[in-house]
Order: sequence, then C-alpha cells, then structure tokens
Amino acid sequence: ALSKNDMESRILAIKKELGSKLFIPGHHYQKDEVIQFADATGDSLQLAQISAANTEAEHIVFCGVHFMAETADMLTTKQQHVYLPDMRAGCSMADMADIYQTEQAWPVLQELFGDTIIPLTYVNSTAAIKAFTGRHGGACVTSSNAKEMVEWAFTQKQRIFFLPDQHLGRNTAYDLGIPLENMAVWNPHTNKLETDQSPENIQVILWKGHCSVHEGFTVQHTELIRKTHPNMRIIVHPECSREVVAAADDAGSTKYIIDTINKAPSDSAWAIGTEMNLVNRLIKQHPDKQIISLNENFCPCLTMNRIDLPHLLWSLESIQKGQPHNCIQVDAHTAEEARSSLERMLLRA
Ligand code: 13P
Ligand code: SF4
Repeated sequence: ALSKNDMESRILAIKKELGSKLFIPGHHYQKDEVIQFADATGDSLQLAQISAANTEAEHIVFCGVHFMAETADMLTTKQQHVYLPDMRAGCSMADMADIYQTEQAWPVLQELFGDTIIPLTYVNSTAAIKAFTGRHGGACVTSSNAKEMVEWAFTQKQRIFFLPDQHLGRNTAYDLGIPLENMAVWNPHTNKLETDQSPENIQVILWKGHCSVHEGFTVQHTELIRKTHPNMRIIVHPECSREVVAAADDAGSTKYIIDTINKAPSDSAWAIGTEMNLVNRLIKQHPDKQIISLNENFCPCLTMNRIDLPHLLWSLESIQKGQPHNCIQVDAHTAEEARSSLERMLLRA
C-alpha cells in the first residue's frame, strides 16, 4: 500500500500535469486530507456557483456528495465531465425524498389545496426531485438563501411544499413569522399530511426528511453547555431541529458559521452544532478561541467521509490514464427541468 506521503505526492504531480484542465471543488465538510488539494472550497451554494462559472476545466473531481456532483454536472458545459471519487458518497437526507413518492404526493396535495402550492427543494436532493420542482414552477434553495427563496415562493403561490429537509423548511418559515401551527408534515410513507388543522390554515408543507448528522444535536446538549460553559455562544446549522435552533444563540449555513467564527473576538467561546470535519478545522484554525462541538461525541457525516486520500488519488489516476471512473451524468431531460429550478435560485442568490 502507498504511504500517505506517496499518495500526496502523486496527487500533486497529477494536479501539476493536468493544470487548468482539472478542477477540484471541496465542500466544507470534507476531510482535511482532501481539502488540502481543493482548488475551491465552499458551501453548497458557493460550489454550485463556482461550477457554473468554470468553463475551462475539462475534468471536475467533486469532493462532496452525489447530489452536489449532479448539480455541478447540470451547471457545466457538455465538454466538461464531473466525477465523484467514491460512488458511495451519497446523502441520506437526499435519499429520503424519492421521486416516485413525490409524484404520488403531488395529486393528493392538489386535491387538498388546488393550484395554490409551489415546490421548493433544498439542493440536498436528487436531480429528479429538482426536475419535479422545476416542472411545477418551483426553485431550489440552499441553507444560505432559504429565507430569500421562501419569500420569493410566497410571491408566486399561497403555499409552499418544501423538500426534503423538514428542519430547514420549518426553521426558515418560522424566522419569516409563519406560526408553527400553519405548518404540516407530509409523510411520504403514508402519503398523508400529518395535521389536525384544516387545510386552509396550512401555509407550509414539510416533507418528512432530515439530516441524521444534524439530528445528532439535541436540546440536552444545549442545556449541558449552558450549565458547564455559561460564557459560550452556541451556533448551529439550520438542519438542526427547531428546538435546537431555538435553544442556540445563532444559526446559519456552513459559510455563515465560518464567517461568524472568523469575525469573532479572539477570547470568545463557541459550541458549534454541525459536521465534525468543519468543527475540527475551525478548532485548529482558531487556537485563540475556545471552540468545541455542541455534541462532545462529535457528529461525522459518514458519506462525506467516504471521499478520502486513496479515493481522490484513484479518481485522478483514472483521469490521467484517459479512463475516468465514476462520471456523474444526469440525463438530458431531467437536467433541463432541474436546471430551471436551479436557475430560479441562482438568479436570486
Ligand atoms: P451548506 O453547505 O449549504 O451549509 O449545507 C450543509 C450540508 O449538509 C451539505 O450537505
Ligand atoms: Fe447529507 Fe447531512 Fe451529510 Fe449533508 S451532512 S451530506 S445533509 S447527511
């Protein structure tokens, strides 16, 4: 087996050889061993924008998860190819909204609400769900523009059908002043709305999906921090539950969390509720600040972590040999419809 040093020097050599033909975007949740080779790092919105702006690179080796690579494929030109270093790098939240379940849900929702609903899908979703959204006049959102996009959606229709993350949907709508009783959860397993309210009161329909990493942060964790570190500010990602966001001092996307810590005074103290690789990186980058994870057992995203040094090298070597592995290609029809939902977001982001 190759040593870590050998792998790193091979990766560097391939990067040098391929030059601007190769582009490696890396999500903030990726491991340090991968991030060190990223040509650009960002949250999901930034990575979508960066992919759209790059017309030069022939090979885009996406260090993130499957839906991000699909999005990059849909926003780049036909001459550009996107690869995912490990096909097992999926997203359990994206997998919670299946297109067949969504197609089954829509007529039931139409029956309940008529033509008053617009779908909004978090970018953490399959290309098929983005295509469904585009087909019905809706748009994508990310955690950094969810507020703007929900506001936009309400200029279009009276009601929003938000997929697949109930927590981002609920937290965003709540921040915009929508009462919790005017939100209802859509259960894809029963194909029913879970509510006692009459349909006319419902403004936001939340798909019953969640991120298992962010559900790992609980109110017990926030209470423990308040007791043990009363001086600490708690900042969490809006994929955490409403109760956790309410108990925290602040919430925002990965980019927002990073910017907040970067700007914070040097003796400040923080408990962060988001993926472990990002929290560990912030701890290393800010030795002057006291930073801990909100859950001391830490919360790794197992699928993000599947991209590691050996997989990155394997992917790059396959490109170098002219026989690239794991090319992510969304079919033309799905891509066209999905792009309309992405473009409605990018226009406003
Ligand atoms: P952002 O990068 O948009 O904050 O999303 C977090 C996430 O869970 C990505 O999978
Ligand atoms: Fe999906 Fe959650 Fe992992 Fe992000 S952190 S890729 S939402 S499982």
